[in-house]
Amino acid sequence: MLDDLKKQASIAALEAIKDGMIVGLGTGSTATHFIRELGVRVQAGLRVHGIPTSEESRKLAVEVGIPLTTLREHPIIDVTVDGADEVSDGLDLIKGLGGALVREKVVAHASKKVIIVVDETKLTGRLGVKAPIPIEVVPFALEVARGQLILWGGEAKLREKEGKPFLSDNGNYILDWWHGPIDQPWALEKQIKGVTGIVDSGIFANVASQVIAATSAGIRKLQRAE
Ligand code: A5P
Repeated sequence: MLDDLKKQASIAALEAIKDGMIVGLGTGSTATHFIRELGVRVQAGLRVHGIPTSEESRKLAVEVGIPLTTLREHPIIDVTVDGADEVSDGLDLIKGLGGALVREKVVAHASKKVIIVVDETKLTGRLGVKAPIPIEVVPFALEVARGQLILWGGEAKLREKEGKPFLSDNGNYILDWWHGPIDQPWALEKQIKGVTGIVDSGIFANVASQVIAATSAGIRKLQRAE
């Protein structure tokens, strides 16, 4: 059921993809649906180039036949389609439970338009009510960064995979910071970014142009207020 909603949101995002576009390809189970559906359109003749936000998405895009390019060749992306872990009423986001937050943020910031595709469970009103804030940190700075986060409050747990520290595509660690509800996402994002050794966080404030949420009552398209 949830997976079906993720697929519906992804299909609705295809409307924004036009011939000749450079398309940012997100990461995660919802973005996977989008990449597969885009692959079908490419096989049917749509001409686009993709810029993936992770190795996982790169492999999938190759598998489904989407031609790829790089930010070096195309530093401006027409539209990016990606998932999210939480979406606030103001369309700020928490992302990165899949561990690709840094590349996702780089790609989103390089995009003229960012479409976020989610199922209804991701619409949380406020941020920080269900998900931790993923924070990518260079391994050398792990304990310094963790100490600073704990000083600000909450718990910061090193993410693990198969009993070992999870490594991002950039070779860094992820701290999952259980901060609690966030009042000012933009200010907290900036505060975290100010810690030397932290590469970036999964708070994406003022980034989404549109959120497409698939609900049991149909598709909702939420537009960022200018
Ligand atoms: C990947 O790093 C994340 O930012 C994902 O976009 C996010 O976790 C949403 O993933 P799902 O679509 O799998 O819920």
